[in-house]
Amino acid sequence: MSAQNEAKRVTIPQLQARARDGEKLVMLTCYDASFAAISEEAGVEMLLVGDSLGMVIQGRDSTLAVTLEEVEYHVRCVAAGSRTALVIADMPFGSFQVSDEDALRNAIRFVKEAGADAVKLEGGAAMVETTRFLVERGIPVCAHIGLTPQSVHVLGGYRVQGRSEDSAARLVADARAHEEAGASLVLMEAIPAAVAASVAKALTVPTIGIGAGPDVSGQVLVLYDMLDIYPGRKARFVRNFMQGAPSVRAAIAAYVKAVKDKSFPAPEHCF
Ligand code: KIV
Repeated sequence: MSAQNEAKRVTIPQLQARARDGEKLVMLTCYDASFAAISEEAGVEMLLVGDSLGMVIQGRDSTLAVTLEEVEYHVRCVAAGSRTALVIADMPFGSFQVSDEDALRNAIRFVKEAGADAVKLEGGAAMVETTRFLVERGIPVCAHIGLTPQSVHVLGGYRVQGRSEDSAARLVADARAHEEAGASLVLMEAIPAAVAASVAKALTVPTIGIGAGPDVSGQVLVLYDMLDIYPGRKARFVRNFMQGAPSVRAAIAAYVKAVKDKSFPAPEHCF
């Protein structure tokens, strides 16, 4: 295929412009080429190769053991199967916390060798300088705050975050600090909808929510959760899009439509 015929991948500035225009953004996790192709065909704009693969693909009970090599393998698969979506590589536990140099080396590997367009890293204030270090060296960053599953042992479980006034204020401050450091997107997991709305209001970059209510720029779900094929316990914020859908393609298209027309998340999916 000649370069002229190649579909163009959506860029971060284009996504930011869509969000500024009030359009909801659609992100979905993805781990292989076939799902990448049908997801972007259905209108998914961002494919997150999440370390959730440790749970939904490898059958582990947390994301902590997922390695750089494992994420890299799945990023390669997703990048190979997609042509238009932004591919985001999730930096697994241990791949960015030790030093900024280590984080940069590993992020470059995801972008240069595996085909990622951006990386996601979990953490609040402690990770702001890492965001700055990567962005200043050419790696777009999606910061992940709120419930950060890699800190499950510190948090004492997969609990909703930001319920107290102090912790809600900390989320706003952390999100602003990541934005100031150059983050292109801020993802919020499992926080009260009102707190997520305050964070979104305080930022100019798009906010992506999972269990963060409707007043954010876009939504993300774990593919295997929204297709109802993960055998584990389902979080309150998950909707089963296979219900009433004749095919997997139709379920993903229904998810895209529901995010775009703002019918998902509904009040029962929010904290
Ligand atoms: O790993 C993952 O899939 C994620 C999403 C839950 C946002 O981080």
